[in-house]
Amino acid sequence: MPPVSQITINTAVLPVAGLGTRLLPLSAAVPKEMLPVGRLPAIHRIVEELLAWNIDRQLLVVRKGKISIADYLEESPEFKGRGRFAYVFQHDLRGLGHAVLQAEGWVGDGPFLVALGDAVMNSHALLGRMLAAFREETVSAVVAFEEVSRDNVFRYGIADPRGNGDVFELAGVVEKPSPESAPSNLAISARYLLTPAIFEELSAASPGHGGEIQLTDAIHRLIQKGRRALGVRLLPDERRYDIGSFESFRKAFDDFAEREGQS
Ligand code: UTP
Repeated sequence: MPPVSQITINTAVLPVAGLGTRLLPLSAAVPKEMLPVGRLPAIHRIVEELLAWNIDRQLLVVRKGKISIADYLEESPEFKGRGRFAYVFQHDLRGLGHAVLQAEGWVGDGPFLVALGDAVMNSHALLGRMLAAFREETVSAVVAFEEVSRDNVFRYGIADPRGNGDVFELAGVVEKPSPESAPSNLAISARYLLTPAIFEELSAASPGHGGEIQLTDAIHRLIQKGRRALGVRLLPDERRYDIGSFESFRKAFDDFAEREGQS
């Protein structure tokens, strides 16, 4: 195996197969990943974030009803000769972990990024710090985290952190804990650098919170087995826009539209 500093990470998995129930009936007409965020569809911004770090081999986990995402990527002149897109179907919607598991045969032996298709970042820098953390240390996972209020921890995967630096060791992660039991208020923020070791945990997983195969649980089991995982915090001026609910979608559209002005 090459030294970690020389490992190339050019592969990403983008799960975009979800039902988008929080955005119905809008999401029945338009995949939420295709909703406009300012002048661009959300998926366009996510693909650009990955291309900014030369992650050009991208697998989209799709389903029937969301093929317009593939049409868009294949037809966009902006991505011609830049992105190498592939598609796999998630036939049963059994959660994010199950979506990632569909990528097992395609990913290969190296590390890969998971970028949620309904989360847009206002900066590309977070991903750069995650890649740097991965290359500096021998780890099995690097996960992005943002602070949320205690009242909201039940919506997210939450870190059990060691230390309070911008990059920290993870003692565990827990999916949607109650405010009383949450080990911190650091919520997983839609970007994960993983190694293929995750697939063994996802294959063995039984359904967790909400009856779904949870990526959070699989990462937790890796840590329990003695693998190292790191957390990377979003900086104060960095923001993850989750477009999966109407309010946060509206905020994302407004902020990007404002930033991009009238031109
Ligand atoms: P979410 O849990 O936010 O998406 O998953 P959802 O299930 O579509 O939303 P609601 O809760 O019904 O409103 C985050 C990302 O993972 C994908 C989604 O498409 C989204 O981009 N996902 C989720 C899958 O690809 N497959 C799944 O089974 C679940």
